[in-house]
Amino acid sequence: MNKAPVLTGITTTGTPHLGNYVGAIRPAILASKDPNVTPFYFLADYHALIKCQEPERVRQSSLEIAATWLALGLDTTNAVFYRQSDVPEILELNWMLSCVAAKGLMNRAHAYKAAVAENEQDQSADADKGITMGLFSYPVLMAADILLFKAQKVPVGKDQIQHIEMARDIAARFNHIYGEHFVLPEALVEVNGATLAGLDGRKMSKSYHNTIPLFEPEKKLKKLINKIVTNSLLPGEPKDPESCTLFSIYQAFATPAEVEIIRQHYAAGIAWGEMKNNLFEYINQHIAPARERYEALMQTPEHIEAELQKGAQKARALSVPFIQQLRAAVGIAKLSR
Ligand code: TRP
Repeated sequence: MNKAPVLTGITTTGTPHLGNYVGAIRPAILASKDPNVTPFYFLADYHALIKCQEPERVRQSSLEIAATWLALGLDTTNAVFYRQSDVPEILELNWMLSCVAAKGLMNRAHAYKAAVAENEQDQSADADKGITMGLFSYPVLMAADILLFKAQKVPVGKDQIQHIEMARDIAARFNHIYGEHFVLPEALVEVNGATLAGLDGRKMSKSYHNTIPLFEPEKKLKKLINKIVTNSLLPGEPKDPESCTLFSIYQAFATPAEVEIIRQHYAAGIAWGEMKNNLFEYINQHIAPARERYEALMQTPEHIEAELQKGAQKARALSVPFIQQLRAAVGIAKLSR
């Protein structure tokens, strides 16, 4: 019963939206049912502090994300579902790794480089203006998240591949110095995950303010879908599904046969109002059962907390002995029995 550990973290700064759902949450929950893997899914609340200094938002986001994953049927008997801050060994490992990670490697991290480039663009006297040590060393924290649980596969978006490569690098360096303690992780870029367009047609993303929250109440969901930007073709005029945001969202939810029917409606000149209505009806009925569970969970945070504590216990059963082994390896130990 040697199950492969698969691990991914969710930064707790926002409210889960339809793009998160089709791109990351849905495939992760599907994967959590695979009997050959042990999924480690965690709320990356220490990572949240890098981007967000609003305590209430970090707390609320943790609650919403945990409720979302549970409402969508995450199997927490197979998966280890925990909060990063409940596993203090992560921070301890973060320091051990900081002491082997090359600073030059961190200089090349794209989040840091983008921040520097922005300062240079603004002709700021200080290229590091506004850049915290948290942002700079964030790939080390991510390496600690991954290496502590010996994750072999790490499902992530394309923007995170570099961080997984850095985690490999740091792990190899540690192993070279102290012996073979870490498994070298690999990025798993989701093949089932789709990128969804948002209200304005650009990629649905919190930073573009164009998202549709996954569990928006019915009325609000309808309103938001009505706001999706389309072209100005009139009813009866044939329309191109491929360039249409409504169609792309529909496609991420519906079966191929259902998509084919909608494609024919486009050719026949379906009115935008009617298509928006179709889309609303489809998504609404698709998520209604999970939304009901979500709303119930949000009213009973003690159930969510209990799940997270159960997850932390499972995680720490692994991380506590492993950090002892690592302490011994680096020479941090009691001087006598
Ligand atoms: N940095 C990741 C993101 O922004 C979240 C994350 C934190 C993560 N720790 C991780 C992902 C470890 C995978 C593995 O998406």
